[in-house]
Amino acid sequence: MLVVVPKEVAAGEKRVALVPDVISKLTKAGLQVIIQSGAGSSATFTDEQYVTAGAKINGNIDSDLANADVVLSVQTLPVNLISKLKPGAITISFLAPNSAQAEISAFEKAGVTAISLELVPRISRAQSMDALTSQALCAGYRAALVAAELAPKFFPLLMTAAGTITPANVVVLGAGVAGLQAIATAKRLGAVVSAYDVRPASADEVKSMGAKFITLDLEALEGSGGYAREMSEDRARKQQELLTPYIAAADVLITTAALPGRTAPQLVTEQMVSQMKSGSVVVDLAAETGGNVAGSKAGETFTNKNGVIIWGAKDVPSQLPFHASQLFARNVVNLLLLMSKTENGKPTGNIAPDFSDEIISAATITHEGKRR
Ligand SMILES: NC(=O)c1ccc[n+]([C@@H]2O[C@H](COP(=O)([O-])OP(=O)(O)OC[C@H]3O[C@@H](n4cnc5c(N)ncnc54)[C@H](O)[C@@H]3O)[C@@H](O)[C@H]2O)c1
Repeated sequence: MLVVVPKEVAAGEKRVALVPDVISKLTKAGLQVIIQSGAGSSATFTDEQYVTAGAKINGNIDSDLANADVVLSVQTLPVNLISKLKPGAITISFLAPNSAQAEISAFEKAGVTAISLELVPRISRAQSMDALTSQALCAGYRAALVAAELAPKFFPLLMTAAGTITPANVVVLGAGVAGLQAIATAKRLGAVVSAYDVRPASADEVKSMGAKFITLDLEALEGSGGYAREMSEDRARKQQELLTPYIAAADVLITTAALPGRTAPQLVTEQMVSQMKSGSVVVDLAAETGGNVAGSKAGETFTNKNGVIIWGAKDVPSQLPFHASQLFARNVVNLLLLMSKTENGKPTGNIAPDFSDEIISAATITHEGKRR
């Protein structure tokens, strides 16, 4: 069967769905791989590296898509490319079910099986296929580096001949995958880090990173599948009130709180930002889904009237395209190989989704064009 990787078309998208390293896993499973010429270039992977790894490079994406049995991409294919797919083809990509209505209709019309990486369930067997997690890891690391770069201060404690420099005080809101990675990175740079999350289970993880967990006298909001629950207006207001002194004292505030498929909760109001010191830095990783911090704008950095530098995230994993692509590629290959058929323990080179498998069943949006 033929696996095709087109060049990503979304503005700002630098990742690629397969990297040369993983090609042999697919060829060993009896699959042929075609990469669109230049598809890996923004992530520094050359056409030659793909060829050496066993893939073919082709310049004509239209005919490749028409012949493809499987199409792997980071972002969902645009509608004009979906219409070129043959019935029964399988696509695997990020595909937000609530916001990709036009693309889902196009998959239905084209008779395609569309698999959404956002819907891979959070069970231990699916961890190696969980692209949300691998990309959040990249985003969390970048968040701490961006904050260190923007801050007019050192992160570490320094004892110099000219006197002592005290370490930066970093506060992280949201201690999921991205938040924990931001904590770990800020700690490695020598900052003093504290963090808050609505899920009490995160307290031990925060402490294991050497950071302090901010305990507020509020009800917990543990949802299902490791996700947080939405909070009431009253609880949101109380949380803001109780967090205000921590945020006012921060040199750096990193926010990572998301709610799957929904607008991010506003955790920090304009009034709270106005209490931050001049020269302090805010990195809002949730800026693309509405923002955790009032006033942050996705893809923009600005200094507010009080001298607070505010950075709004946009396409953050793409700012680390080599490793973000490498991790994504491993996730997507693991998911694809879950659908690889074997006979007497040997791969047949066929891919077919088995809906009795919990992971495949949860992540499939359309099967041969039919909504699941
Ligand atoms: N396969 C698996 O088992 C698997 C995979 C991924 C994540 N997880 C777990 O799921 C949990 C959440 O992961 P995530 O990073 O993907 O979550 P996420 O991206 O949905 O949210 C980021 C963090 O923000 C927190 N948050 C949400 N609303 C908040 C609010 N109002 N105030 C403060 N914090 C708020 C969430 O609790 C979460 O920790 C983690 O414990 C993670 O380890 C498990």
